[in-house]
Amino acid sequence: MNLTPREIVRQLDRYIIGQDEAKRSVAIALRNRYRRSQLDDKLKEEITPKNIIMSGPTGVGKTEIARRLAKLVHAPFIKVEATRFTEVGYVGRDVESIIRDLVEASIRMVKNEKMAGVQGKASRAAEERILDVLLPSQKKMDPNSLELLPDSTGDDTEKTALVKQEPDSMQNTREKLRLRLRSGKLEDSVIEIEVDENRYPGVGVLSGMGNEDMMIQIQDAFGNIFPKQTRKKKVTVRDARRIFEQEEAQKIIDMDEVIDEALTLAEQDGIVFLDEIDKVAGSGMGQSPDVSREGVQRDILPIVEGTTVMTKYGPVKTDYMLFIAAGAFHVSKVSDLIPELQGRFPIRVELKSLTEDNFRQILTQPENAIIKQQIALMKTEGVDLDFTDDAIDEIARMSYLINQSEENIGARRLHTVMEKLLEEISFHAEDLCGQTITVDRAFVQQNLTDMIRKTDLHKYIL
Ligand SMILES: Nc1ncnc2c1ncn2[C@@H]1O[C@H](COP(=O)(O)OP(=O)(O)OP(=O)(O)O)[C@@H](O)[C@H]1O
Ligand SMILES: [Mg+2]
Repeated sequence: MNLTPREIVRQLDRYIIGQDEAKRSVAIALRNRYRRSQLDDKLKEEITPKNIIMSGPTGVGKTEIARRLAKLVHAPFIKVEATRFTEVGYVGRDVESIIRDLVEASIRMVKNEKMAGVQGKASRAAEERILDVLLPSQKKMDPNSLELLPDSTGDDTEKTALVKQEPDSMQNTREKLRLRLRSGKLEDSVIEIEVDENRYPGVGVLSGMGNEDMMIQIQDAFGNIFPKQTRKKKVTVRDARRIFEQEEAQKIIDMDEVIDEALTLAEQDGIVFLDEIDKVAGSGMGQSPDVSREGVQRDILPIVEGTTVMTKYGPVKTDYMLFIAAGAFHVSKVSDLIPELQGRFPIRVELKSLTEDNFRQILTQPENAIIKQQIALMKTEGVDLDFTDDAIDEIARMSYLINQSEENIGARRLHTVMEKLLEEISFHAEDLCGQTITVDRAFVQQNLTDMIRKTDLHKYIL
């Protein structure tokens, strides 16, 4: 999908408040990638990808912007903490696992789409299979399944008669059973079906070894050694349908096609979110940069520059993937990153601390706004919540103040404050069913006193 930067920003606005600069930057970065992909190969090579670094305090929307962007343009997305690669036990080449994970994400995405596309076919096939179980066409019919028929009297002679029926009336019975199945009356009946057994026994033990290439080979080898095994299992008709639909959809879709499409999608549209990039930058406070941190940057470099990574589905080029790095950059600065890496992230954007006004908007405006969520949640209990404007003001104000006096956790504060605020209602919801509860300023102040008492904010409250 090739949205213009303006359209991307407009879509991001539906979920993220403020941070206009960051939205613009990601939109431009994305469009630049597309522009570059349109060029002929010679020119393409000359132009380095325009990746982006977002810096800014915690909880102001860095991850959220990247995630929404990916969702919006339908791009495979992977988020990874750069610090993961400084941990003991990781060796340089494992950085390539980022790309393998992205490919897995891409495959899941394409596969789910294709499966959704064949849903109708799959559920028809699943119905036939359930009917096969309920009413085997062979002589050896399970007499129990006849009890599921509406006119079954439980009389044994009648059952035997049924089994011996001619193909024609057999078909009749099947159709009767089908109607009954569709009416939903058999959903909880238990039937016995065959399910696929897990295929690679024992391989899990080896997975701690860290060498992914080896893992891939072992899995492939085992895949051939162990024949596909099935096992009988008792499940409800409802579950059987789910299992069969899944299996049938798998059968219909062409996995080779899925893999081809997914690889292309990952190469052309993949977005890699490198979080905590500041933690692998030099400290910038006079100490020499940690070797292993610089090592991580050097390991990441080729992937960002464009390389080919082997995955179990085939080679994948990272040349056109979009990399979005993010970090708080409290201690270190972007300029503490090794120059080569800086060069690959020419677009820099700083996200601002959120204001009280931002908080007010975040509470109510986004399509998934916290207030909307809480109202919907309580509605399931039959409780109507009604927030007055001054209550929203007060929640925003208190959250902002708590952030100032305690740790500043950005918009995440709103979640903790809202949970606290509605704790009583949430706990006693069963008694409140059918009522409308007005949440006004007084309610907010009263219910947050506990939270406030722990800080030195009471002076602001009255
Ligand atoms: N500007 C914003 N508009 C709407 N919601 C926001 C905004 N900023 C943050 N949020 C919400 O706050 C939560 C945390 O945001 P996010 O994960 O983007 O933080 P972050 O900037 O990545 O922080 P960190 O540095 O800790 O990873 C999310 O639930 C997100 O929806
Ligand atoms: Mg984040």
